[in-house]
Amino acid sequence: MDITSSTVFIPGATSGIGLGLALRLQAAGSTVIVGGRRTELLQQIATEHPGIGTVEIDTTDPASIAAARADLAQLYPALDALVTMARIMEPEDLRDPASLDVAERTIAVNLLGPIRLVHAFLPALLARPSATVMTVSSGLAYVPLAATPTYNATKAAIHSFTESLRVQLTKSSVQVIELVPPATRTTLMGQQNSDVAMPLEEFLTEVMDLLKTRPDAEQILVERVKWQRNAEAEGRYQDVLNVLSARYRD
Ligand SMILES: NC(=O)c1ccc[n+]([C@@H]2O[C@H](COP(=O)([O-])OP(=O)(O)OC[C@H]3O[C@@H](n4cnc5c(N)ncnc54)[C@H](OP(=O)(O)O)[C@@H]3O)[C@@H](O)[C@H]2O)c1
Repeated sequence: MDITSSTVFIPGATSGIGLGLALRLQAAGSTVIVGGRRTELLQQIATEHPGIGTVEIDTTDPASIAAARADLAQLYPALDALVTMARIMEPEDLRDPASLDVAERTIAVNLLGPIRLVHAFLPALLARPSATVMTVSSGLAYVPLAATPTYNATKAAIHSFTESLRVQLTKSSVQVIELVPPATRTTLMGQQNSDVAMPLEEFLTEVMDLLKTRPDAEQILVERVKWQRNAEAEGRYQDVLNVLSARYRD
């Protein structure tokens, strides 16, 4: 992915990592379109950051995805990168029947959403001389946080889906990248001031450095996420699981 000249659509960029990445890519020279449901935030972003594009999209709604795709095809025919960022993360107590609702919503946003987006945008991306699909998993795809079982499961599924997508697109012009964030200070699950989460700007700086210096990387792994990403391969899986499970054992 050429961070200096791509035309990038990021559904799930009205806040947090998505918005931060959008602004970094724009500053590097790319054209960026941010998407999300909160129209007031989309308007605010367009006002505060001249040149950035915005599109309203609900990634759980196939009609909304189709409408966004049609708008983008008209306004940004050079679109050559899709970043499937939109997610929710909510705690679930599996002993509470009400948690099934959280599980179903989590799968709709975090798993079905990216799959629908890839299906919607891939034909146009395949027609470009060079293009990128970036999916977003998590360190929790590799060792789960017991408090958010379905979130972790969707992220593990995104990792697996991404691997297959990359293999299927081997002989195409589309590069497939998996961004694997560690706990990062955003409002995703209230960790914006957490000491154990990585400061957002530090995370973004490391991500942009990796995208610049390793443009062919299959995974974007900042140093902080390797604790989880490489736990199994390095024989530390049970130790990391114990740390992430501490609240259930104390
Ligand atoms: N922060 C972390 O610690 C961390 C760690 C690992 C992975 N990640 C991943 O990084 C990505 C960004 O997370 P974040 O921390 O930046 O979270 P965030 O600030 O809560 O951002 C989530 C984004 O998703 C959008 N979104 C949610 N549901 C949507 C829907 N149905 N349709 C369209 N957009 C939707 C939200 O926009 P609207 O509400 O406006 O729709 C928002 O822009 C996620 O994939 C997350 O799983 C984050």
